[in-house]
Amino acid sequence: MNPPSSSSSLVFLVLVSLLLSSSSLAANNNELASSEEVIRLPGVTGPESLAFDCNGDGPYVGVSDGRILRWNRTLKQWFEFALTSPHRDRKLCDGSTDPNKEPICGRPLGLKFNKKTCNLYIADAYFGLLMVGPSGGVAQQLAISASDGSPLHFVNALDIDEKSGVVYFSDTSTLFQRREYQLAVLTGDKTGRLLKYDPSSKKVQVLVKGLAFPNGVALSKDCSFLLLAESTFNIIHKVWLTGSKAYNLEPFALLKRSPDNIKTNKKGDFWVALNSYRSVLPNTDHNEIVQKEDQNPWWIKQDPVAVKFDGNGETLEVLDGGGGQKLDSVSEVEENDGRLWIGSVRKDYVAVVNNV
Ligand SMILES: *[C@@H]1O[C@H](CO)[C@@H](O)[C@H](O)[C@H]1NC(C)=O
Repeated sequence: MNPPSSSSSLVFLVLVSLLLSSSSLAANNNELASSEEVIRLPGVTGPESLAFDCNGDGPYVGVSDGRILRWNRTLKQWFEFALTSPHRDRKLCDGSTDPNKEPICGRPLGLKFNKKTCNLYIADAYFGLLMVGPSGGVAQQLAISASDGSPLHFVNALDIDEKSGVVYFSDTSTLFQRREYQLAVLTGDKTGRLLKYDPSSKKVQVLVKGLAFPNGVALSKDCSFLLLAESTFNIIHKVWLTGSKAYNLEPFALLKRSPDNIKTNKKGDFWVALNSYRSVLPNTDHNEIVQKEDQNPWWIKQDPVAVKFDGNGETLEVLDGGGGQKLDSVSEVEENDGRLWIGSVRKDYVAVVNNV
């Protein structure tokens, strides 16, 4: 999940200035190819995160009405897979795109399968950290508060250490709920946290506090560190998980656009989704925005909507949105089968780009 939404022009100004902070990245241009396709959702929006199961089937997506849907590639059809609350009212919720219903319907944001157990872990902005087995249904709530007693308030993204079953996840704000995320950005809220769920103790430990819109979380291949997006500051942090530096933050990448979810590919490289905000900037087209940053060629020539880093922070690839509408709101990029599967907290589709 990522700021902002449509209403306040003040938000837009704040965000434009955030987007224009400086950094330099040299990379190959990955033009949006003609081989792209779009998989429409059935009347709902916001497939923020994507996941593929143990068999490589999917994607699975969490959507605006609180359900987790599964794509059947043979039938080319979406099916309901899971819910994040046993109390979800189908009449009220099914098909909803109304953020005000989220506290009742749920809003699954982060998704990730543990490939060892085939269980799906879910970060629901309202219902905390959950897990559901391979056949789906109503997910089991794993945690709704941390061991210091503080409630989970805006759970956003997660990753799993498959050896230990430990889940690392972000709680974006202790003050604002997901549907109020613009306020978290506008007020410079710094109550976000990085947390750790240990399945043996069933406890949630607060690892890092005081973060400004912590968002994507992704573990390195050897699980020695994770990357954490702090969206308000356009920063990716490296967080060591072992040794004397454990839970210290180191800068990993400074970005020009706001980072959202982070996912690793099979090699252990990291895809960071960048939000352009073009889809929510009123009366502003791509050219107007890019002209403001005329001293930076990377920014002018490209419309970076995602960037792939190796574990050392070297840029491997940039996904270019081409200034168009199709990729003007990218929340997550999941590399699977030589393709990039692209989620968005705003769109009513999953985009797929061939990436050979
Ligand atoms: C897709 O649907 C068909 C027909 O119901 C079923 O046989 C198949 O197992 C489904 N595929 C997946 C991946 O669920």
